[in-house]
Amino acid sequence: MALLVSIFVFLLFSSFSMAEKLTFPNQLIDDFDTFVATYDAKRCAECHEDVYEEWKESYHSRSMISSIKGIANFFTVGVPKEWEKELNKQEIIKCLDCHLPQIKFATERLAQEIATYMIKAKLGKGKEKEEARAKLKKLNLSCYGCHNIKIAGTAPGITGHIDPNVIYTSGEGESDAHETEHTPVLKRAFFCVQCHGVYIAPDGESTYCNTLSGSYVHNYIGQGGRKTCQDCHMYAKGRGHRMPGGHDLEIVKEGIDFQAEIRAFRYGVGKWVPAVNVEAFLTNKAGHRVPDG
Ligand code: HEC
Ligand code: HEC
Ligand code: HEC
Ligand code: HEC
Ligand code: HEC
Repeated sequence: MALLVSIFVFLLFSSFSMAEKLTFPNQLIDDFDTFVATYDAKRCAECHEDVYEEWKESYHSRSMISSIKGIANFFTVGVPKEWEKELNKQEIIKCLDCHLPQIKFATERLAQEIATYMIKAKLGKGKEKEEARAKLKKLNLSCYGCHNIKIAGTAPGITGHIDPNVIYTSGEGESDAHETEHTPVLKRAFFCVQCHGVYIAPDGESTYCNTLSGSYVHNYIGQGGRKTCQDCHMYAKGRGHRMPGGHDLEIVKEGIDFQAEIRAFRYGVGKWVPAVNVEAFLTNKAGHRVPDG
């Protein structure tokens, strides 16, 4: 019996350690479907089902489809007409570095193919438009974008030495499924700020898609605020990877404290007119400006 059990345990163990670890290519990808499959959050869903379900509810899971109009405008007007530049990967990255960090691993040709879908999703007609939208739905800020690619921007020690096959974590968990490496970076506000703030492109040009981090630093931390983005958007109420924001009434309500003092009185000459005097106090309790961030 003891022998049987140990053989069983051995088999179980060896089948585990023989399972192939997740790998990620360290080279440019040219084919759209290969690109999608490589960075698909579904690769992680099999074992991290709960996180995957939360992430799917977040705006990070629709970071391309939800910003079609603005990005297509930039590609059709901003770059060619205002900057008078060719729409190449270097310009495309100025928007997609945050909306689709894996764009870094797309070839020049594929980056332009993706830009074309953005444009067709806005300006195309009928079937062409539908098809472009369907493609964009497959692209997003997936697990790998945060747990690998964007670690480089915030971790001085790791910058430039990001190992494409490592999943960077804030915890200590280890797995046979993939390499893991602990980094405290994921717990810092600056990790979020790199995308939720001013962006400096590799060629030195800066773009402001949103200025939320400025108001976080000056109006919140500067006034003695202690919480990180993660405190309010992830740890509070078990929000985790849902990271709710301006589209979620629950957290929007939290952001504004509303108090009103109402006094009823009457006025008039000859005829009394009932009236109220309302004094409203709105206090911002978010970690930054509201409602636009
Ligand atoms: C530094 C990272 C970053 C860069 C670069 C960036 N964005 Fe964004 N973008 C964001 C973030 C973060 C949000 C979500 C902001 C929020 O909801 O407060 C966003 C949201 C948007 C939205 C949706 C706004 C809405 O109403 O929901 C559009 C459209 C958009 N970006 C267009 C662009 C365009 C066009 C460019 C290139 C010129 C660009 N972005 C570059 C980070 C970036
Ligand atoms: C917008 C960035 C972002 C995206 C996208 C993202 N994560 Fe995370 N994830 C984080 C941050 C930040 C933490 C750390 C929270 C903490 O512990 O402080 C985290 C924590 C985790 C943890 C807990 C272990 C740890 O590191 O603390 C797991 C597991 C995890 N993520 C898996 C995933 C999976 C799977 C996906 C895709 C379905 C995903 N993440 C997408 C930012 C992200
Ligand atoms: C075959 C199963 C499997 C797949 C696929 C998988 N993981 Fe994991 N992962 C694990 C196990 C098991 C652990 C260790 C136990 C734990 O902490 O959850 C782990 C740990 C982690 C941690 C650290 C958790 C902690 O608490 O420190 C993160 C972050 C993470 N995985 C992210 C990912 C991402 C991102 C992907 C997809 C690119 C992925 N995992 C794919 C099984 C898997
Ligand atoms: C790689 C860049 C990137 C990182 C890192 C990142 N975000 Fe985002 N985030 C985005 C983009 C892009 C959007 C907007 C998607 C859209 O609407 O098009 C977004 C959307 C959001 C929203 C939803 C805003 C709304 O309008 O409802 C919240 C909240 C948010 N992020 C919080 C966080 C927090 C908290 C962190 C850090 C743990 C973080 N993000 C890290 C890029 C990033
Ligand atoms: C003290 C808690 C708190 C902190 C700290 C905090 N937030 Fe928020 N955040 C909120 C609340 C509450 C809202 C909803 C208010 C609203 O948008 O009306 C919100 C909204 C947002 C939105 C949506 C804004 C929009 O217009 O769509 C984004 C994006 C966001 N936060 C990102 C961040 C990032 C990134 C950080 C860190 C730099 C951060 N938050 C720090 C509480 C916080």
